Amino acid sequence: MAAFEFPQDFVFGTATASYQIEGAAGEDGRGESIWDHFSHTPGKTFKGHTGDVACDHYHRADEDIALMTNLGVGAYRFSIAWPRIIPDGDGPVNPKGLDWYSRLVDKLLAAGITPFATMYHWDLPQALEGKHGGWRSRKTPEAFARYAATIVERLGDRVKHWFTLNEIPCTVFLGHGSGRHAPGATEDVGVLNQIQHHCLLAHGHGVRAVREHGGEGAEVGLVHNATCRIPVLEAPEHIEAAGRCFEEANGPMLSPVARGCYPAEWLDEMDDDAPEVTPGDMELIASPTDFLGFNVYGGLYVEADGSEKGHRIVEFPAGYPHALAEWIKFTPQAVYWGVRFLHERYGFARVYISENGCAMDDQLEDGRVDDLDRMFYYRLYLQQAQRAAADGLPLAGYFAWSLMDNFEWAEGYNHRFGLHYVDFETLERTAKLSAKYYGACVRARRVM
Ligand code: FCB
Repeated sequence: MAAFEFPQDFVFGTATASYQIEGAAGEDGRGESIWDHFSHTPGKTFKGHTGDVACDHYHRADEDIALMTNLGVGAYRFSIAWPRIIPDGDGPVNPKGLDWYSRLVDKLLAAGITPFATMYHWDLPQALEGKHGGWRSRKTPEAFARYAATIVERLGDRVKHWFTLNEIPCTVFLGHGSGRHAPGATEDVGVLNQIQHHCLLAHGHGVRAVREHGGEGAEVGLVHNATCRIPVLEAPEHIEAAGRCFEEANGPMLSPVARGCYPAEWLDEMDDDAPEVTPGDMELIASPTDFLGFNVYGGLYVEADGSEKGHRIVEFPAGYPHALAEWIKFTPQAVYWGVRFLHERYGFARVYISENGCAMDDQLEDGRVDDLDRMFYYRLYLQQAQRAAADGLPLAGYFAWSLMDNFEWAEGYNHRFGLHYVDFETLERTAKLSAKYYGACVRARRVM
């Protein structure tokens, strides 16, 4: 392989999520989601921003598919809004919602773009929250099972790549721990563990729906934002320590999926706060999957040392490079080591980087956004993706987050993650320099 070249069948795409881009919040029978409710509650999002209009993608899908065509990407990861399909969560199905996604899928396929559909990217029907406490209740994964079967039955003849839930830890810890995300709750550890368990059950139901209704060649996996650990130096002792740390951080989420059990040490530690598990739950959660979606923005450095634990996390000094979103430190090796540990430690046989990107302080001037900083970020992270593939690790594809600037949850429109700049007054899209860069890499199939 030539320098920095990707394998021929490597998938390049862009990613988005329904509530972040669609807008059209009250249209065609869509029900309210917890994010509508939350963003309309004073004080919850940056300057009270909401996703009412967002990028108005619901009315501009053609234009947005043209953006993808210009990039040359072969795949698109989007999410389906549960409240468009079953507006009150567990009642009647809304045919207009299904029709809209069916048309989207047709348009993607006509443009030669493979759809990767996420079943749940955080926009839970508010009615489920109101009726029985949303993810706190087992009724939510049960309602999810019917929702998943409904969308797979309708779209499964054309959608062959399914992601179940996006980033369960965010639903648990941001949605119900810190309250930074919808539904904005602050629960104690026992409830959080039960919520995580219910989300894992929903994942299992999603897998089952694809097996039962997905038709020939249908594939499915979870999307996990693996908490990455990077060896501070690539020497055996630090690699081993980082791997152990990786398992400690991700075990409670990944061990049930990959091994069918919660880690024994974690259950001990949780004691009375451990989740209640019903017979059959772990079999459902561990239903075999085809791949894992890995959302990666950065990681922490680990150094093996002589302490009791055997390692320490090396703190970032004040001057360490980071994105406008400060939680994103420039730690590109998280891509390589994340994929490697997911494969070596949990046996995932295929991994897609289902999100990678950063928010920067973009300025639109003279019709241009010269985001050299984002371009630098992409170059570094793509190099590590290429390294993983070249090393023989099972990394099959890469989705840039995001196709365009959008509603960044609690940060509203304040944090821009797009390859395309969106003017939220006129809704005009402008390709940033990073879009031209990513497009050039995709076309050349190598890191430029
Ligand atoms: C991830 C989310 C995605 C987006 C990026 C920046 O955690 O999955 O929706 O907000 O962060």
